Amino acid sequence: MARCYVTRRLPGDALQRLEAAYDTEVWDGDGPPPADALRDRVAECEGLLSLLTDTIDAELIAAAPELRAISNYAVGVDNVDVEAANARGIPVGHTPDVLTDSTADLAVALMLAIARRLHEGNRIVHTGEWSTWSPDWMLGRDLHGATVGIVGGGRIGTGVAKRLDGFGCEVLVAGRDGPAPFGELLERSDFVTLHVPLTPGTRGLIGDAELAAMKPTAYLVNTSRGPIVDHAALARALHDATIAGAALDVTDPEPLPPDDPLLEAPNLLVIPHLGSATHRTRAAMADLAVTNLLAALAGERMPHCVNPEIFESR
Ligand code: DGY
Repeated sequence: MARCYVTRRLPGDALQRLEAAYDTEVWDGDGPPPADALRDRVAECEGLLSLLTDTIDAELIAAAPELRAISNYAVGVDNVDVEAANARGIPVGHTPDVLTDSTADLAVALMLAIARRLHEGNRIVHTGEWSTWSPDWMLGRDLHGATVGIVGGGRIGTGVAKRLDGFGCEVLVAGRDGPAPFGELLERSDFVTLHVPLTPGTRGLIGDAELAAMKPTAYLVNTSRGPIVDHAALARALHDATIAGAALDVTDPEPLPPDDPLLEAPNLLVIPHLGSATHRTRAAMADLAVTNLLAALAGERMPHCVNPEIFESR
């Protein structure tokens, strides 16, 4: 019977399907397995179900001679060395679609939260700084009717655009299918929201020059991957009021240490990578990740695979 390793307990009952079919070990810790434990376990496995917090690099893949399927519990696969998997003919699965709506919801929530100062308002109530209602106190900016620049016109970017239609926004999309020139998008947008995968080409996509190109009244929202934004540049832009604020669901590193200099910047809202964090979505991701792994171990195509070309060469 093939052996499988799962790097964390998953919500819902999807893992039962894997356990029923294969000799399955699930890491029982609250955080990711340490690198040496992961390497030791994967060395004996044919199937791996990993999380975005696990580094599945060439070295780990080389140390796992039996490995024939990797199923990542995320839509992003920047934690997996897909080229190394390709070289071994190992399919790499991911979990698109099921998390699109939850992540798009959260991106809109962050736009509203940062522009309407929800995090500040909440703090002020808790600390007793709320003395009275006042005509010019805690004023923010509207999302309705705003121009929103969506960087990355894939599934989640498109989901955000759909929602913003209801807010009467003008939407500019730059990226895969979007026609807007990136420079124009930065200059014209009241909100810039990032929805691109992390690749060598998108690492540091938003740096000093891009932030300087944005309006001083504009907000940056990131629900994609932390390293797409240069944090030092963002801290400078917030301190210098080059932009009005930023709301981040993802950071570099994760978790962001509480003493990270970025956290001293004004008008910054940071939450701990919650884009897909709803009961329904996380259970659906587990279902998809297990379905991907079971298919590959049975010698079939994974329903959601980032390197489907390996099936052609079989
Ligand atoms: C992903 O799937 O890539 C998200 O970042 C976590 O849901």
